[in-house]
Amino acid sequence: MQDKGISISALYQGLSKGEDLTLNNPVLIQGWVRTNRNSKAIGFLEINDGSCFKGIQVVYDDKLENFDAVTHYLTGACLSVRGELVLTPGMKQPFEVHASSVTLLGDASEDYPLQKKRHSLEYLREIAHLRPRTNTFSAVFRVRSVLARAIHEYFMDNGFVYVHTPCITGNDAEGAGQVFTVVTDAEDPYKDFYGKKASLTVSGQLHVESFALAFGKVYTFGPTFRAEKSNTTRHASEFWMIEPEMAFADLDDDMDVMEGCLKYCISYVLDKCPDEMEFFDKFVAPGTIEKLKNVLAKDFVRLDYTDGIKYLEEAVKNGHKFDNSKIEWGMDLQSEHEKYLTEEVVKGPLFLKNYPAAIKAFYMKLNPDGKTVAAVDCLVPGEGEIIGGSQREDDYEKLKAKMATQENPESLEWYLNLRKWGGCVHSGFGIGFDRLLMYITGMANIRDTEPYPRTFGNLKY
Ligand code: 4AD
Ligand code: MG
Repeated sequence: MQDKGISISALYQGLSKGEDLTLNNPVLIQGWVRTNRNSKAIGFLEINDGSCFKGIQVVYDDKLENFDAVTHYLTGACLSVRGELVLTPGMKQPFEVHASSVTLLGDASEDYPLQKKRHSLEYLREIAHLRPRTNTFSAVFRVRSVLARAIHEYFMDNGFVYVHTPCITGNDAEGAGQVFTVVTDAEDPYKDFYGKKASLTVSGQLHVESFALAFGKVYTFGPTFRAEKSNTTRHASEFWMIEPEMAFADLDDDMDVMEGCLKYCISYVLDKCPDEMEFFDKFVAPGTIEKLKNVLAKDFVRLDYTDGIKYLEEAVKNGHKFDNSKIEWGMDLQSEHEKYLTEEVVKGPLFLKNYPAAIKAFYMKLNPDGKTVAAVDCLVPGEGEIIGGSQREDDYEKLKAKMATQENPESLEWYLNLRKWGGCVHSGFGIGFDRLLMYITGMANIRDTEPYPRTFGNLKY
């Protein structure tokens, strides 16, 4: 068994509980060198062990028998340090370690790609295997982990059952045709494994709907794949999606849960990741914390698509320039239009609902007007859509007619039959997890919120 020593986060936790940290002495700290400054007889190592955002300062001097060697340990080296924990009230850090021994566990050479200077996010994307050791990505990926926990807690605490829907599927849930095909033999793609066309899932919704009609409230949370050739800051070809589904729930209930879930996640991250959030607020996107607190304080605006169109028409009339200024009912809104509605009209998150049936997926509930569906997108300033959801068509004949226009409707016979055997009013939605993380952290590119992003034209690592 390896002696693991004490983590820096345990020291900070002890401090906040008012414990006497020096009772731990001597301490053993293991981590990676961020900086090493030294003069003739004394040196200072900044070590980060990844247990929390903050690092710890290690002071060493020429009483160490390997003092000379230690002065040469470079940024990135992995070290094990033993020494006295000394409280330093009033200093920048509340404690430091006075080393009695410093052992090199893993050397880092001079060509270590992460040096003390500020690197661009583009450069760091090229070294995705090392960027978790930077402040920015240490913060992003810890918040990502905490946010995943928030999601599970929110749904589990509210009585939802977690369902693992499959990654490999025989249908294109969204009917948008943006699927990756699964083959076993690249040389002979038609030699099939399942006896039919298989693809990676674009959404777990259809599978999870059947579970909602057994458990009442369910959610799935997993990877999703879309062969969208959009080279934007918001599209990845592999991303994570949370898809709750609720029996006995209409579109208003759906929006209530969306809003409740978003607010829970935001409060959770603000509460659990204060250091990371302060970092984002200072260095990544100033104003992020205030923005999130404002979101918590207000009810989200709920606006019909038809009224949204009126605002856009009004804007054009008043001289606002869009790239596409031909505003008409029935159009699919471009991100510039969504941006205008959230940033100029509402100035906060917006539920835009009751879209024209023609621009939305086949499974959405047709409204009594016969031309719109009970669909809702949650749009946020700076980013646009982060959630898409709807009440589902529960009328067998109407759904059957809609499905007939889809490719391969026989593959969804089982889904249609749910309307024949104990169907009910039900609704659900999909949160883009990576987009939610972008919104909470202020990171502007989805490539900087996923550990190893997969985007059009990019499959490094
Ligand atoms: O709006 P979408 O396509 O909805 C569905 O897939 C439904 N089946 C959800 C449901 O009702 N159960 O996708 C849902 C969300 C979007 O709002 C967006 O946040 C995210 O998934 N998303 C993407 N995120 C990153 N990269 C992409 N290429 C994305 N496509 C969608
Ligand atoms: Mg959508």
